[in-house]
Amino acid sequence: MQSKDIRAKFIEFFESRGHTFVPSSPVVPNDDPTLLFANAGMNQFKPIFLGQKQPEVLRAVNSQKCIRAGGKHNDLEEVGKDGYHHTFFEMLGNWSFGDYYKKEAISWAWELLTGVYGLPKEKLHATVYKTDQEAYELWKSETDIIPEHITFHGDKDNFWEMGDTGPCGPCSEIHFDRGAASCEKHGSPGHVCEVNGDCSRYIELWNLVFIQYNRDSEGSLNPLKHSYVDTGAGLERICQVLQDVSSNYDTDLFSRLLSTIATLSGKPYSEETGISHRVIADHIRSLCFALADGGFPSNEGRGYVLRRILRRAARHGRLLGFFEPFLWKLVDTLIEQMGDHFTELKGKTDFIKMVIKAEEERFNKTLDTGLTKFSELTAKDASTISGADAFMLYDTFGFPLDLTQLLAEEKGMQVDTAGFEEEMTKQRERARAASKFALQQDDEDWVVLSDCTNTEFLGYTGYTCDSRICRYCLKEGGLIHFVLDKTPFYAESGGQIADSGTVSSEDYEISVSDVRKTESAYIHIGKLERGIITSKVAKAVINESLRRDTARNHTATHILHKALRDCLGESVQQKGSLVTADYFRFDFTHFQALTDEEIAIVEAQVNEIIRQNRSVFTRIMGIEDAKASGAMALFGEKYSQEVRVVQVDSYSSELCGGTHVSSSGEIGLFRIKSESSSAAGIRRIEGVTGRAAYADTKADQALLKELAALLQSNPTQLKTKLENTLEQIHKQNQEIRALKEKLIGFDIDQLLSLAEDTGDYKLIKAILPADTDLKLYRDLLASRITGTIAVLITASSGNVSLVSVVSKDLIPRYSAGKIVQALCTVLDGKGGGKPDFAMGGGKDNGKLTVLLDSLSQYINPIQ
Ligand code: SER
Repeated sequence: MQSKDIRAKFIEFFESRGHTFVPSSPVVPNDDPTLLFANAGMNQFKPIFLGQKQPEVLRAVNSQKCIRAGGKHNDLEEVGKDGYHHTFFEMLGNWSFGDYYKKEAISWAWELLTGVYGLPKEKLHATVYKTDQEAYELWKSETDIIPEHITFHGDKDNFWEMGDTGPCGPCSEIHFDRGAASCEKHGSPGHVCEVNGDCSRYIELWNLVFIQYNRDSEGSLNPLKHSYVDTGAGLERICQVLQDVSSNYDTDLFSRLLSTIATLSGKPYSEETGISHRVIADHIRSLCFALADGGFPSNEGRGYVLRRILRRAARHGRLLGFFEPFLWKLVDTLIEQMGDHFTELKGKTDFIKMVIKAEEERFNKTLDTGLTKFSELTAKDASTISGADAFMLYDTFGFPLDLTQLLAEEKGMQVDTAGFEEEMTKQRERARAASKFALQQDDEDWVVLSDCTNTEFLGYTGYTCDSRICRYCLKEGGLIHFVLDKTPFYAESGGQIADSGTVSSEDYEISVSDVRKTESAYIHIGKLERGIITSKVAKAVINESLRRDTARNHTATHILHKALRDCLGESVQQKGSLVTADYFRFDFTHFQALTDEEIAIVEAQVNEIIRQNRSVFTRIMGIEDAKASGAMALFGEKYSQEVRVVQVDSYSSELCGGTHVSSSGEIGLFRIKSESSSAAGIRRIEGVTGRAAYADTKADQALLKELAALLQSNPTQLKTKLENTLEQIHKQNQEIRALKEKLIGFDIDQLLSLAEDTGDYKLIKAILPADTDLKLYRDLLASRITGTIAVLITASSGNVSLVSVVSKDLIPRYSAGKIVQALCTVLDGKGGGKPDFAMGGGKDNGKLTVLLDSLSQYINPIQ
């Protein structure tokens, strides 16, 4: 049975028993910091076991990508030595989230292995945890396993834990007896083959874990709310047994990889001589899956484990005679083999190849010098490589410890690993103390293709050129940094942003989004769109239309600078600028905002120079000559002895390294969009030119049209139409007021008729509708009352507004201001005003009714 059928049958078997297929989680678990890599199928279900998440289904089945190369489950050093250790493997599993338990888990596992896969019952053995009598009885009652094949074991073999912390529980394992001939210790005195013994006759096929506890960081076991089933069966081992071969590496999962390695190296694979073949075949699987899931080689954490895996594989490549990068050539074979089930691999082929190849290139370089160093060290007559030497090999030559150990082993020597760890700790402390360390490490990441270190900039005269990549460096997130020997790309400087574009050859294509300048080299930053980087000649092409737009804006800032000085005076000095393809920003010294008129004059002047189509040219001059000629320089900027002067004919002359139009007419149109303050004493003008200015003008025109349409007019008659409309609105407002007054007049008649006579004055009080115009009431009331005090209130959404009017004849004995103040205090608000009229506001705090009933208490004569 082929591996893909074995996988499919496992999934079908459990699907037909009510399980839902859940795809493998990424092998790089970005959401679990306690875990380096997914190391078991249950990882993605951890929150369910811990009661932090409700399961979406009660039964699940899956085939999980696992890497065991660090942390609690680490098989890295064992890989290659035998036929069944792996860093990467697939784990088939079924789960019950508080649904079925031991009985079904055991009987279904038995049914699948013996019924569906047809394994001989007499070759199967079961282990149970030392205290798990229940599982023991179930094996006896639910299956027809030979009863003597059920054995009890302790914590080491039959208590499964995910890591130092996390879900765990007793387990029951199923082992397969490969026969006495598979025992490498057969016949050794005192050796007895047994399950969980020390030979490879019995191999574990499937682990049924009965999750019951959570191990906390103190090491205590805390019972979980529910019991869960978590099983895991290594696909590679099941394939070995079902395909009746003596090693996982002889299954169809590895055959294509091993034969590609044999073809590329010219060294055929055999079980006896194939350690390096196995290491490489295993490690390339880890690398491809980890990179496809977002891993990336680096100097720490997961990235460091990947780097070690790659270096271990590359080192074994040397043993097979590979002196050039070769691992990347295995990527296609692996993806062909696995891509149908793990579709995430597809579409990432080039990226994976590139990252692997870049790492190999770097490692090969250090390996050569490192191996020489290693020979020197081992030439000394000693049996141990000191910790300091092992660390030097690691730190300077990139030798992982296990590589040094491997090489030492070959020479019959040992490595002082404790001493190495001590050095490692010291280095970590140094790294913490000097944050620069990270930068130095970054520098190491360059893959050097040629020794050119300078970039020749050809972008003043052309938009494209032939060039070669001298070195490159892959960054996380799919970005690539690279240096070209010649480039048309302008690197961000002097306020002008970098060019974008593409660099492509028959081998690769990179889209460039940014360019930075170092002392001598241009670092291009982009995304590898296709292929593998090589040093072959490539075409570097910038985005011409964006470059032209940028040039229009840049030359326009020079003309603007001069126009500002002409209009506002020589005190104007440039303080900074930003020149992009879409717009520009120009900061300059000036102590007050520009008036609309000044802005108009400056804008008109720049456009005049544009229309005059002045020629723009550059000259290289000595700095002193340039200054003497009146070229403007940025105050405080450091210039070299030779400078580039950009002239717009005789109008403007500035020191500048940027790219410009060749005559001012190319700018087309210049518009100032805003004038504002950027800092104390510094003004900022933002504007547009060329295409953007035209688009802006069109947008204004469209807006005018739209506004005219709203008024059922056209742009030329819009002003008259708007004036007429406003006049009409004004008239209508007047009419509305007159009508309102008339209406309110009726209300006021009523209010007057309801006035209470307190003896000293007449009191009008009323709560009016929320939208009442209180001011209008006040005006109309004031003209009609004598001997009267009025308090009018509106209330809406918890807020209260009130006015008080006191008739002229009661002043100065009574004051509306005082009355409003007193009332507002009760209503938790504020108010006040004049003796004859005042307004205020407060909260509808439940006191309004009482207040109105006892209103006269708050209206006291002034003593
Ligand atoms: N979690 C268990 C294991 O990894 C069973 O899946 O072996």
